[in-house]
Amino acid sequence: MNVADRATAGFRQRYGVEPAGRWAAPGRVNLIGEHTDYNDGFVLPFALPLRTVVAAAPAPGGRWTVWSELDDEPVEFGAAEADEPGRVDGWAAYVAGVVWALRADGHDVPGARLAVASDVPVGSGLSSSAAIESAVLAALVDLGGLDLPAGRWPRLAQRAENDYVGAPTGIMDQSAVIRGRAGHALFLDCRTEEVEQIPFDLDGAGLAVLVIDSRAPHRHADGEYAARRRSCEQAAATLGVTALRDVPVADLDAALARLGDDETRRRVRHVVTENQRVLDTVALLRAGRVRDTGPLLTASHASMRDDFEITVPEIDTAVEAALSAGAYGARMTGGGFGGCVLALVDAGAADAVAAAVTEAYAERGFTAPGTLTVQPSGGATRLG
Ligand code: GLA
Repeated sequence: MNVADRATAGFRQRYGVEPAGRWAAPGRVNLIGEHTDYNDGFVLPFALPLRTVVAAAPAPGGRWTVWSELDDEPVEFGAAEADEPGRVDGWAAYVAGVVWALRADGHDVPGARLAVASDVPVGSGLSSSAAIESAVLAALVDLGGLDLPAGRWPRLAQRAENDYVGAPTGIMDQSAVIRGRAGHALFLDCRTEEVEQIPFDLDGAGLAVLVIDSRAPHRHADGEYAARRRSCEQAAATLGVTALRDVPVADLDAALARLGDDETRRRVRHVVTENQRVLDTVALLRAGRVRDTGPLLTASHASMRDDFEITVPEIDTAVEAALSAGAYGARMTGGGFGGCVLALVDAGAADAVAAAVTEAYAERGFTAPGTLTVQPSGGATRLG
């Protein structure tokens, strides 16, 4: 059964009636621009064909009931729990967080019953959290007839994650998931929230993006993410700028000379050079030179590995094996400490590259990786 039918079937089975509608939001990968979003910088993600679907209907009484195929038991909460961050936990916190963010923004959120099904793997760094937040947001906005233009959805969904769930993430994931467009990568300026849809025609170039799930357990990812964010913010304060976005690559050496310790220097170097790599990638894509972006992807990986120090052995192994097998470029995508690698490959070579990574994993005794090829797909939408 496909994911939309699973959501509908779950709804019927759980609540004994038909849903009023179904809303979908995808996962994402980030082509390039890692840990730049919370530094007010640039990112270039795209939405995946893998989606989370929420079947929903209004319910009387101002309460929310959510069933997910991850769990047998539905979770029910009212305004009191939604208004107090932390009261609802586990996967349902992403749902309660959206109710909280909408209410905090002054909206009269309708009570609802929801059923959630998803093809976005959880814990693989493909933004399953942004997908559920965004699908629930789309559902509640529609069901309540709320006056909330889609341009404001990413910030609201981010607030659910930052302030209700308690993860200090940036604006990239929710933007990609909500604003993604088929056949395009989303060039986002995280300071102004301006976006430009950049054509990313893999088929036309005879190329494919292979996504490799490292299956590495997330090791201390939350604490390390927060620590990276803190050191970037401290460095910006030392340099007297609002955010590291304000350090142009031409001023990098001068900025590094003003920082006291080597670790901070490396963190700053990653962010400043990564912003430039996003701009360079966008310029190449605008010129239709998709294949030529490969070296920028690989340089981004080296920067995450050596300067930002957010990769793990499984991830580095996947990148090296993909490159040895002929990928034009490869890099970790997402927050780090596990998650996925993406590799830009000839369309006809995707299987061979996947096999080479699987073999390299076996040699090192790692759990076999997951692999799939993906196309840039559409963002959050109502299915009807
Ligand atoms: C996670 C966060 C994003 C972003 C990336 C790193 O995916 O949710 O906001 O910071 O890590 O680029």
